[in-house]
Amino acid sequence: MLEKIQQTGDFLRKNVSKLPKVAIVLGSGLGGLTKEIAISESFEYKDIPNFPVSTVVGHGGKLIFGTINGVPIMAMQGRFHFYEGYNMQEVTFPIRVMKNIGVETLILSNASGGMNPSFNIGDIMVITDHINMFPTNPLMGKNFDELGPRFPDMSEIYDNELIAKAEVIAKKNGIKIQKGVYVGVSGPCFETPAEYKMFRIVGGDVVGMSTVPEAIVSRHSGMKTFALSVITDLGIVGQVCTVSHEEVLEAANKAEPLMTTLIKDLLLEI
Ligand code: HPA
Repeated sequence: MLEKIQQTGDFLRKNVSKLPKVAIVLGSGLGGLTKEIAISESFEYKDIPNFPVSTVVGHGGKLIFGTINGVPIMAMQGRFHFYEGYNMQEVTFPIRVMKNIGVETLILSNASGGMNPSFNIGDIMVITDHINMFPTNPLMGKNFDELGPRFPDMSEIYDNELIAKAEVIAKKNGIKIQKGVYVGVSGPCFETPAEYKMFRIVGGDVVGMSTVPEAIVSRHSGMKTFALSVITDLGIVGQVCTVSHEEVLEAANKAEPLMTTLIKDLLLEI
């Protein structure tokens, strides 16, 4: 694994003009941010050595380098989900590579189902903490001390300073944001009413199928992590209704301009 990370890092060092300190994973709801990037280099995942290969038609994915408002960034357009069949090392490989090329701050975004009864579809939530309900953990197996400690601290997995900055930015721009706990599950099923109820009882505000593995690896490797979630459906006790992928995407797209504003302003303060 170490060799692969180094190889991929070397490839990017050789082919990218300006290596960034900030990386963004564009989940559902933040794809539009690519329009804001002054792109210097863009690589299809299939052309990057050691990157997992997507088997789903139309889900190619791109690693983009450039600037937003003059700030150098790299962005993953499309991520690797555990439910697609990738193992946890594959899901989190790009995060290891980011660290390898000098990234210090990781911004994650995703779509989720709201369980907190005060949440609505289209709300944006700043993730303050998470609960790992995946059946495994990306740090299972041999630990490479070069990458991070065997037993990493997770008492502040999402950076409090960045959360506070995002709150100020939201207020300044008149954007309503929620704050809360993200429960990460494998998927690909959406939850049953009893599952939404259980995840609420154990302390979750929203539930989704990504982000947790990436945040764990980001923290393990010593990067600052910040994550936003757009609530695309509701799993609130008594209000659970049917959910489809299309509805999730539609709700995520609607929240996209606000997410974009938040991230653009936040980049100026990192
Ligand atoms: N559950 C899990 N993942 C999701 C949901 C949900 O309700 N909505 C968007 N991603």
